[in-house]
Amino acid sequence: MRERSLLDLDDLTGDEISYVMQRATAFAARPPARDLLRDVTVVNLFFEPSTRTYTSFAIAEARVGADVVALPPGSSSLGKGETIEDTALTLAAMGVKVIVTRHPESGFPYRLADSFSGHVINAGDGSHAHPTQALLDLLTMWTEFGRIAGLRVALVGDVLHSRVARSNVIGLRRLGAEVTLIGPPTLVPDAMRAEGVRVERSLDANLAQMDVVMLLRIQHERIASAVLASLDDYARSYQLDARRLAQLAPHAIVLHPGPYNRGVELTDDVLASGGWRYAQQVSHGVHVRMAVLDFLVNGKK
Ligand code: CP
Repeated sequence: MRERSLLDLDDLTGDEISYVMQRATAFAARPPARDLLRDVTVVNLFFEPSTRTYTSFAIAEARVGADVVALPPGSSSLGKGETIEDTALTLAAMGVKVIVTRHPESGFPYRLADSFSGHVINAGDGSHAHPTQALLDLLTMWTEFGRIAGLRVALVGDVLHSRVARSNVIGLRRLGAEVTLIGPPTLVPDAMRAEGVRVERSLDANLAQMDVVMLLRIQHERIASAVLASLDDYARSYQLDARRLAQLAPHAIVLHPGPYNRGVELTDDVLASGGWRYAQQVSHGVHVRMAVLDFLVNGKK
């Protein structure tokens, strides 16, 4: 029987998402025993740059006592033409139990999971999904408000190319939040409207009603000039700056998955504001990733 993987948040029920958040909260309060994943070998296979996800997975894996191998793509035999299917068989034959992978191709972790007998964790594939980022975002909201249900959450900017946005929408809807996607039609097409998901064009007209404002990175590496002609025009309409910060409700928080583009999605005023929760998001990344590893390998306690 194939082991359970986390390829996107629809792999988890609402109850399981809540369980992972509770477990992560417990790990934040009290670090887990270092033998939680004793004798479990994890391979980190990242084909795209990463600071937050890679490092926090490496820290989480060490804290739960896994044996960790970092396999840089340039050092793997994929570069010599070995297929991903044969790589998966090879790693499984060595006793590897978990592969954490990031890849520029949407769907890559699904192909890997089809061939691998252990657990695959998607650490970001193309513009498709980034489930552990969404979990740490949900945990940041949950820690702040004690609930997700009923929260008014805006995702602002480049939703079209954002794997973070896609996974967040799944998790937020699953837990009963009211989601609003805000941006120009080229980055937030009307077709993204769905049950529980509004699409709006004006940030100014919607900011004051939000409990959570999640800014999304303008993805220069994936974006075409036909989609976004001018960063100045974008910033005029969608940048969070001092004037727009003043429109936020006093209790509202501001999130960004990072890395952020200063002077594009936000100005330095945001980094100094009381509602900015970026550091908490990053810190929760370690706790959530410990909880995901524990959940997949050991199941629910
Ligand atoms: N948020 C995020 O995925 O950051 P990295 O690309 O640095 O991992």
